[in-house]
Amino acid sequence: MFLFQTKVELQAYLATFHTAKQSIGLVPTMGAIHRGHLSLMEQSLQENGCTVVSIFVNPTQFNNAEDLAKYPRTLALDIDIIRSLSEQIVVFSPSVEEMYAGNTVARSFDFDGLEMEMEGAQRPGHFDGVGTIVKKLFELVEPTKAYFGEKDFQQLQIIKKLVEKEHLPVSIIGVPIFRAVDGLAMSSRNARISSEGLEKSTFLYQVLAQAKVLFQTESIEKVNHFVESQFKNNSTFDLEYFTIADEQTLKPATAKEEGHAYRGFLVAHIEGVRLIDNLSFN
Ligand code: PAJ
Repeated sequence: MFLFQTKVELQAYLATFHTAKQSIGLVPTMGAIHRGHLSLMEQSLQENGCTVVSIFVNPTQFNNAEDLAKYPRTLALDIDIIRSLSEQIVVFSPSVEEMYAGNTVARSFDFDGLEMEMEGAQRPGHFDGVGTIVKKLFELVEPTKAYFGEKDFQQLQIIKKLVEKEHLPVSIIGVPIFRAVDGLAMSSRNARISSEGLEKSTFLYQVLAQAKVLFQTESIEKVNHFVESQFKNNSTFDLEYFTIADEQTLKPATAKEEGHAYRGFLVAHIEGVRLIDNLSFN
């Protein structure tokens, strides 16, 4: 395994791959590596001559200072986990100074309104921060393909829009959500939940799965009502939002239209931790 902390070292290593026109896969992460991240790396290893995994807790995408401070930072453990997957992976773990050079601010992007919905509405400036760091990483690594999880479906759609609008020469690959056997989506934030809380958190997937079944025959209004009532009857979780949205526009759906794909999006809090999940309803 290779570990680089500066852009110069990383670029020097990648130069041979660029010269030989070998494909490079990039998997951007914020660390606290879990099996969801590993599924992205596995796909990249299969499809590319070189796989770069970035580990960088990006300050400009946190609109909440406490969330940033509490974000798990486990670099030594992350490196062990990645090494046991493959010795060939290149880990890039820069400092904030290395990525932002004293100017730790996000650029402002226009993602054609995708950034206004759901996470964008709840976390102002979040996607400007994501766009800023991902663009920096793309310009640095110049990957052939970059891998993003459907776990953050809105982020995946926004990265596709970023690439289109900024004319970046990279293919964006969406990877299905990796779930524990009980359905809970793997997340770095799960590390902050007690084992009892984690057992209860399968509730989120169960509600989404039931909502999907209802969606086939019932109106969107009825499905929304069902989900809200499930949370009212469950004191363990605070529901932040549930939305059925069009996969392309991410706008809340009011009626089902032919030829459109819909997805249920859910955010709920347990033990002070914010959990996010989504499921294709088609
Ligand atoms: P992070 O939350 O570390 O996630 C890194 C990547 O792993 C994202 O593309 C995310 O969607 C994916 N991922 C997380 N959990 C997953 C799961 N259970 N199944 C499949 N994929 C999963 O997302 C970010 O970091 C940051 O915003 C980043 C893109 C790195 C920019 O800072």
